[in-house]
Amino acid sequence: MLKITQLAHLLVRTCFAEPSSDSPLFAIDATVGNGYDTLFLAECVGENGMVFGFDIQDMTAVRSQLAKRGLAKRVTLFQTGHETMLSHIADSADAGASAIIFNLGYLPNGDKSLVTTRQTTLAALSQSLMLLKRGGILSVACYSGHPGGEEETNAVLAWAKALPHEEYSVLHHHLLNRQRTSPELVVVQKI
Ligand SMILES: C[S@@+](CC[C@H](N)C(=O)[O-])C[C@H]1O[C@@H](n2cnc3c(N)ncnc32)[C@H](O)[C@@H]1O
Repeated sequence: MLKITQLAHLLVRTCFAEPSSDSPLFAIDATVGNGYDTLFLAECVGENGMVFGFDIQDMTAVRSQLAKRGLAKRVTLFQTGHETMLSHIADSADAGASAIIFNLGYLPNGDKSLVTTRQTTLAALSQSLMLLKRGGILSVACYSGHPGGEEETNAVLAWAKALPHEEYSVLHHHLLNRQRTSPELVVVQKI
C-alpha cells in the first residue's frame, strides 16, 4: 500500500497532466520541512512555473537541495507560518494554484515543538481554497498520534466534510485495519 504522502503525490500529479495554458503554473508547499514535497512540486510546475513554500523553521538545507538539482529559480521560500500565505502570494496568484500540499505535524527527527496547530492550519486551509484554481488539488496529510494531532485531524476532517459539494470534491483516505491514529489523507479538488 502506498504511504499517504505517496498517494498525495500520485493525485496531485494529475493536475499537471494536461499541457499547460499560456500562463505559468504555480503551486504551494504549505509545510516545507525537509523539502520533499517542494522538490516534487518544483518538478511538476515546469521550468516557467513557481512553487511558494512556507515553514516556520530554517530552510537552508532545502535551498541547497534545490540549487543542487537546478530547481532554485522555480521556488520561493517564506520562513513564516502558512496562515499568512494569502498576504505573501496574493499579487502573483491571479492564475490560481494548480496544487497545494500540507503535511501536518512536526518534522520526524526534528524539533517537536515546531508543530502545526488546529487554529493556524484551519486559517491556512481557508486561504488555500481562495488560491486554488478550478481543477486544482489541495492535499492534507494528517497525523493524530502526537499531542494536539487528534484535535487537529478532527478539525481538518470536519472542515473538509462541510465544503459544499457543488464546488468541491473531497476524498478521505484512512486504512481501516490499522490503529485509529494511523495517518490520514484529505484531498480536496475545486470543481
Ligand atoms: C511533517 S513536517 C513537513 C514535512 C515536509 N513536507 C517534508 O517534505 O519534509 C511539518 C512541518 O510543518 C512545519 N510547521 C509547523 N507549523 C507551521 C506553520 N504555522 N506554517 C508552516 N509550517 C509549519 C514544521 O516546522 C514542520 O517542518
